[in-house]
Amino acid sequence: ANQRTLSIIKPDAVAKNVIGEIYSRFEQAGLKVVAAKMLHLSKEQAEGFYAEHKERGFFGELVGFMTSGPVMVQVLEGDDAIAKNRELMGATNPKEAAPGTIRADFAQSIDANAVHGSDSPESAEREVAYFFSSDEICPR
Ligand code: CMP
Repeated sequence: ANQRTLSIIKPDAVAKNVIGEIYSRFEQAGLKVVAAKMLHLSKEQAEGFYAEHKERGFFGELVGFMTSGPVMVQVLEGDDAIAKNRELMGATNPKEAAPGTIRADFAQSIDANAVHGSDSPESAEREVAYFFSSDEICPR
C-alpha cells in the first residue's frame, strides 16, 4: 500500500556531504521525496522527537548528537515506504547492518548512524506531523 514515512539524514551524514548519495538510494528504490527541510534541531525539538526514548540510558547522548549539527528531514512516499526505507537503512547498529545498506556504507557508530526512519505507521504519522504541516507536503 502507498505510505509516507519520516526520514532524517543525521548530522554525521550531512557533515560527510552524502545527502545526495542517500537521496539516490531512496529514489532508486522507488521512494519519492515529497517534502524536505534542513534544520539545526534545538534541544527541545530533539527531546520531543525522541520522547519515547526519554528513560533510556542513551537519551542524553542521542539528543546531544542530534543537535550537534544540521540535519536533513524528509517525507518519503511510495509503496510500503516504511519497511522499504528501513531495509535501505539497515540495522540501527552499523556494525550489524547488512552490506550495501546506508548505515553499513556511511555510518560510524550507533549514535552517528547516518539516518533515522519511522518504524511503524503510527510513528510515521506522528513523526511526519512533528516536522511538516500538510501544506508543506507535495504528493505527486
Ligand atoms: P534512531 O532510529 O534515530 O532512533 C533512536 C536512536 O538512538 C537510534 O537511531 C540510535 O542512533 C540511538 N541509539 C543509541 N544507543 C542506542 C541503543 N542502545 N539502542 C537503540 N538506539 C540507540
